[in-house]
Amino acid sequence: MKAIEKNLLAVALSGGSTPKPFYELLGSATFAGRVRWSSIQFFQVDERCVPPDDPQSNYRLIRHALLDSVPLPPANFHRMEAERPDRNLAAREYADQIARLLGPAPGGFPRFDLIFLGLGTNGHTASLFPNSPALEERQAWVVPAFVPELNTFRLTLTFPVLNAAASVIFLVSGEDKAETVRDVLEGPAGRFPAQFVRPVNGRLEWWLERGAARLLKKQ
Ligand code: 6PG
Repeated sequence: MKAIEKNLLAVALSGGSTPKPFYELLGSATFAGRVRWSSIQFFQVDERCVPPDDPQSNYRLIRHALLDSVPLPPANFHRMEAERPDRNLAAREYADQIARLLGPAPGGFPRFDLIFLGLGTNGHTASLFPNSPALEERQAWVVPAFVPELNTFRLTLTFPVLNAAASVIFLVSGEDKAETVRDVLEGPAGRFPAQFVRPVNGRLEWWLERGAARLLKKQ
């Protein structure tokens, strides 16, 4: 049964440092009381292959910035268990968790209501990095991804899942991202992983902090 039939909102949260203030705001007294937390099912966009209490863990960031401040039922957060030795099994079982709640939509991929993404200075998003085999994945919903420049593994949602979403929002902040934002949004297509996020039947928005947007022609 799809989340919408259960009157649920399926949201996938990105990691990295950018969304931290946003998650803190969402969990603050200003907003926390205005959200029907029991109607939201949170998933992760990607996760580093570290224990959940590791400083590198995206789950740890989300827990400290948001989950510890809001009355979200524990069963409503679906953690990516990227620390497990068998990363392929962990990826498959995470996809099963998504399927149990969302089930594949007509295109064969789960339709999240909302996915928040970040952007790396090399144009990666989620854990879909330049030159990664994960960029070519067109069947699996979740895959392990080796990141050469970081010499580390991650688990990540794949492009077909990102592009099946009803709404995708990039959150980008910092002057250090300005050139990448300009090149991704106003440069030639097909150069950066982030340019392959094109929701098939959904909305794509870029929420840009002023410094990240400063080189854009169209403000
Ligand atoms: C991660 C994220 C990744 C992140 C970008 C930007 O696990 O790190 O999913 O895609 O969004 O690397 O990271 P910052 O927000 O820290 O600049």
